[in-house]
Amino acid sequence: MGQTTGKAQSSLLRKKSVQQAIRDTEGEHGLKKEMGPLQLTIFGVGVIVGTGIFVLTGTAAAEKAGPAVPLSFVVAAVVCGLAALCYAEFASAVPVAGSAYTFSYTSLGELFAWVIGWDLILEFAFGAATVAKGWSGYFTSLLADVGIDLPSSIAGEDAVFNLPAVVIVGIVAAILVLGVRESSRTNVIVVAIKLTVIMIVILVGFFYVTKSNWTPFIPDSKPGDSASGFDQAPLIQVLLGQPTSSFGVPGIFFGASLVFFAFIGFDIVATAAEETKRPQRDLPIGIFASLAICTVLYILTSLVVTGMVPYDKLTDSNTNGAPLAYAFDQVGVSWASTVISIGALAGLTSTVLILMYGQSRVFFAMARDGLLPKSFSAVHPKFKTPYRITIITAVVVAALAAFLPLQVLGEATNIGTLSAFCLVSVAVIVLRKSQPDLPRSFRVPWVPVIPILAVITSLYLMINLPVGTWIRLIVWMAIGIVIYFVYARHRSNLARGVGVDE
Ligand code: ALA
Repeated sequence: MGQTTGKAQSSLLRKKSVQQAIRDTEGEHGLKKEMGPLQLTIFGVGVIVGTGIFVLTGTAAAEKAGPAVPLSFVVAAVVCGLAALCYAEFASAVPVAGSAYTFSYTSLGELFAWVIGWDLILEFAFGAATVAKGWSGYFTSLLADVGIDLPSSIAGEDAVFNLPAVVIVGIVAAILVLGVRESSRTNVIVVAIKLTVIMIVILVGFFYVTKSNWTPFIPDSKPGDSASGFDQAPLIQVLLGQPTSSFGVPGIFFGASLVFFAFIGFDIVATAAEETKRPQRDLPIGIFASLAICTVLYILTSLVVTGMVPYDKLTDSNTNGAPLAYAFDQVGVSWASTVISIGALAGLTSTVLILMYGQSRVFFAMARDGLLPKSFSAVHPKFKTPYRITIITAVVVAALAAFLPLQVLGEATNIGTLSAFCLVSVAVIVLRKSQPDLPRSFRVPWVPVIPILAVITSLYLMINLPVGTWIRLIVWMAIGIVIYFVYARHRSNLARGVGVDE
């Protein structure tokens, strides 16, 4: 059931029909439907709150925006909000596993779908690896607190092989293979822990705010030292031929480009479409509720932290990558600092879990369409989870986390996610034209204005990223396109006339 056989299509723009995409979810390759709006929101918060707020708030305040870092969060939230409108429309129209990948397959065609599926590996697999490394850092420092020092060859930024990062990826993969019900339950507990920790930061920290730390709120612009080499220079400054600067009003935008990482994940709610009971209604609720909750928490947390200690003290070298805990140490509340570290560990665990979940579902959708080997999409007879693809995802993520530096992984994640935002926003406009009558329980207002604004604002954050990140994006995409023409193009269901509507 679920597949029709028809004429093979050879065009690069061959499309899968929305109806076929939905039919594919029935039958042996379908997933269990059991998530509702509350579960989706918890799921969203679970992946969104992570390394961004726990680690990058300090870096952004100290090096980019100063006490105005809450405004950086606002800018990043606006960009994500615009893209979220587009994701919500697509998720409500094409409620099938695979998120942006499936959306583009039905609207822009197979080549674009492949490109975006390949691009999503940057967001999900590289993102999971980034957070696994962050987890490893917190874990290593907590062990150090109880007197156990791991050798620097297997832990920390200089590790040859980052062992704790590989271990957490292995544990998360086992939870995912056991099934989404168990995964959601685990997630609820972990999300509760990390929200409690964030509330402690906001409510306890509030009493230790010194107002003078907020003055000047937007420090004067000054030459930045982050762009030591061409590779590290933000593309926008190379394009404009300007020297790098930080702080001032531009600093708010550089900060936004960095703390954007803190919002990555709301789109993953859309990847759960196929496991949602009423996707048309519940997915938009899940996406917006989780984004709104996180935006408020981020603004309050960053305000409190920059009020507790002078922003220029929040450098990575001072905080050791734990700015929230550091702020409490500075005001003499060390119990809170330990609690925050434990909470961060729990928080990062759920982020790794859901990023890997998102990646496995995108790979699953690509395998089901024949763009990756078909056998990958097998669903476990007992657990009803795509176990093979989950294990493959875990191996990829573990290898990335074991060997690549944190900064390279994080920047790749940001640029990959922002390019996906651009493609999804364009796809909304295309699908409105090509399939105007398709039922959509959620519609983006003012099309094409909002999707175009989503593209422009995403591109703006992208050009604030370093030149080296752009080069790596282009190389990655080139490799993907070669694989498409050598392998995927010939193996796809559409090429072989499987699953084609006549
Ligand atoms: N938004 C997630 C984080 O901050 C990826 O870790």
